[in-house]
Amino acid sequence: MINRVLAGIRATGRLHLGNYLGAIKGMIELQNNSEYETLYMVADTHAITTPYNVEGLKTGRREVFIDYLSAGLDPEKSILFLQSDIGEQVEIAFYLSSVVSIARMQHLPTYKDKVTQYPNSNTMALLNYPILMAADILAYKASLVPVGVDQEPHLEVAREIARKMNQTYGMDFPEPKRFATQGEYIPSLTGEGKMSKTVSGSYINLTDSKEEIQKKVRSIPTATEAGGEITGGLKTLFMLGRIFIPDETIRFKEDFMNGTLRFVDFKDALSEAIAKDLEPFQEKRAQISRDTEYVDRVIKEGAEKARVIVKKTLHELKSKMGLT
Ligand code: TYM
Repeated sequence: MINRVLAGIRATGRLHLGNYLGAIKGMIELQNNSEYETLYMVADTHAITTPYNVEGLKTGRREVFIDYLSAGLDPEKSILFLQSDIGEQVEIAFYLSSVVSIARMQHLPTYKDKVTQYPNSNTMALLNYPILMAADILAYKASLVPVGVDQEPHLEVAREIARKMNQTYGMDFPEPKRFATQGEYIPSLTGEGKMSKTVSGSYINLTDSKEEIQKKVRSIPTATEAGGEITGGLKTLFMLGRIFIPDETIRFKEDFMNGTLRFVDFKDALSEAIAKDLEPFQEKRAQISRDTEYVDRVIKEGAEKARVIVKKTLHELKSKMGLT
């Protein structure tokens, strides 16, 4: 059996450092490993599960696709596509929903968080979010999913569904596992919770300028007294430091313990390294976003390739469920 990999990022805004370190780094690593066949989609269908703006989604999903290409996802090596181009995934999600209880979905922490965030939009689409995600993965019989640690509860649902469908209907879905990166959990710049596109002031966008990055990193709340308590903001600073400037961070940590650290030195060294790391992405992005025809072609060809795989699974599923 082929080792298939599938991952996606919701088209709910521009990509940030958390998406990059928690998901895209892993997606690229697997894409460049010839043992795997990789499929990466822009999850635009999932974007309608919380309140959204139609024009914003239209442009946003394309922007995320351009982000993928600029970050190094390569249509020569991976199948890159828009989730909504493959309507069969939604059909599969409906079939899978027949083995999932409402209570199981209502108890998911990710669902509860979203209901708290959008109390007036407690919709069926939101409740079905994890089933659609399971369908995305199982439609391709993918066994490995490069996502951040926050997605683990959804992967657990996908594994449960795979088991039930295999037992009940004799399908051969693999139980998908998470492929983790060093940046599997990037905390917020505010020092509370995770870096998230829906929490303003929490993130660094991949398109932020050097000056913006410096301003944002400088604003991370740090203890006023060097050598004092390790607060949330300091944890964020040290975490990003370990990823972008590991050697210097050891030194900065020692200085902190000794009470001699000047936070601004650490912050500026860090923001400079982040800006440098994002430079190739930003240069490539400027170039690709001008090439409309190329982007259109990649989207179209990706959908054609993905559809071939999904159609096979859909046919098998319908036939085993008695629908052919
Ligand atoms: P989304 O858009 O919320 O997040 C996209 C990816 O970025 C990761 N991520 C983070 N990683 C580390 N630290 C953070 N602060 C951080 N914030 C976000 C997420 O873990 C994720 O990998 N449900 C998915 C989208 C999806 C999907 C799929 C993924 C739809 N279908 C099928 C895999 C397979 C999501 O919430 O994306």
